[in-house]
Amino acid sequence: MNPSDDDERFARALHHAGRQPTGAPLTPPLVLTSAYVLPGDPAGDYQYARWANPTWTALDALLTALEEAPVVAFPSGMAAIAAVFYGLLKCGDRILLPADGYYTTRILAERFLAPMGIGCDLVATAALATKEFAGYRLVLVETPSNPALDLADIGDVSARVKAAGGIVVVDNTMMTPLGQRPLDLGADLVVCADTKAVNGHSDVLFGHVASREAKHLDPVRDWRRIAGAIPGPFESWLVHRGIETLELRLARMGDSALALAQRLQAHRAVRAVVYPGLPEHPAHALAKRQMRGFGSIVGLTLADKDAAERFIGACRYVRPATSFGGLHSSAERRARWGDQVAEGFIRLSVGCEPLEPLWRDLEASLNAL
Ligand SMILES: Cc1ncc(COP(=O)(O)O)c(C=O)c1O
Repeated sequence: MNPSDDDERFARALHHAGRQPTGAPLTPPLVLTSAYVLPGDPAGDYQYARWANPTWTALDALLTALEEAPVVAFPSGMAAIAAVFYGLLKCGDRILLPADGYYTTRILAERFLAPMGIGCDLVATAALATKEFAGYRLVLVETPSNPALDLADIGDVSARVKAAGGIVVVDNTMMTPLGQRPLDLGADLVVCADTKAVNGHSDVLFGHVASREAKHLDPVRDWRRIAGAIPGPFESWLVHRGIETLELRLARMGDSALALAQRLQAHRAVRAVVYPGLPEHPAHALAKRQMRGFGSIVGLTLADKDAAERFIGACRYVRPATSFGGLHSSAERRARWGDQVAEGFIRLSVGCEPLEPLWRDLEASLNAL
């Protein structure tokens, strides 16, 4: 991937609305309405607000410019994932989900899809390289996986799933449309929890689905309109504003994450560091090929649960919180949610703070262990 193409794409996305007439606002208006003036026979896009709202139309357009694909926005990442499942699957289908990916997607399949006759198998992200895909209607790939940061080759998996007659959905939450281009690599659909880096300010839950194929996206859009999982106008407005600094934030966060991963590796209190940008990462070569930058999440393992909790508690600039991708650094022990990682494993989400104060904070907290 040529970085300058990506820079051009982001510049184009920011200016996708083109030249506006004199007097037009520079930012999308926040439109709060449940209905539109509609005399006579219904006509036009704006008839009832469960179908369309000008503020989320503006955000859909910005996301569409970023993805270079039509987009449907949702009020959370899970609402986006659920819309893909409910829009595209039927009784008798079988799906394949990451065993090591975001756990709520698995709960959705176990609790709500299985009783509807939709079967689900799990596979570790790193094992997708040798997995056989016959019989799967849908394969969901999360790369890098959350939280263990294993990688899958999106191009290779997409080609083999399609050859076996299935569709490939990539959860691109970790990387965002600026950090990884699953549709260009062959995926059928992308889902993204914009709650994380895309919005980036930790003040909104949001999500989107993108696809270049109407046969995949139309049912997802219909699901939104009929089931009513629509984004709120204010949330849409906030995400629109958040995206305007996405490229800046990702650059700072990614540079800091790489520097911190290297320094953490050398600290005596740290047992292991996982980060796709480190040459020691088992899929580093794939990361260089497939991703733009290496993301803002660093996994570090301390001696045990107690050490990890004391470290998180001692940090001044790293907030003890779940979630990631925000401009404030945050950290948590993932074993507290039942993820299959060591008790001392911490998912560190590197934010936009200047690097050196952030490192001094981490170093002091590690030194105190
Ligand atoms: C990879 C991934 N996908 C999806 C989601 C769900 O997003 P949301 O919390 O906005 O529903 C998350 C949330 O953490 C996530 O990490």
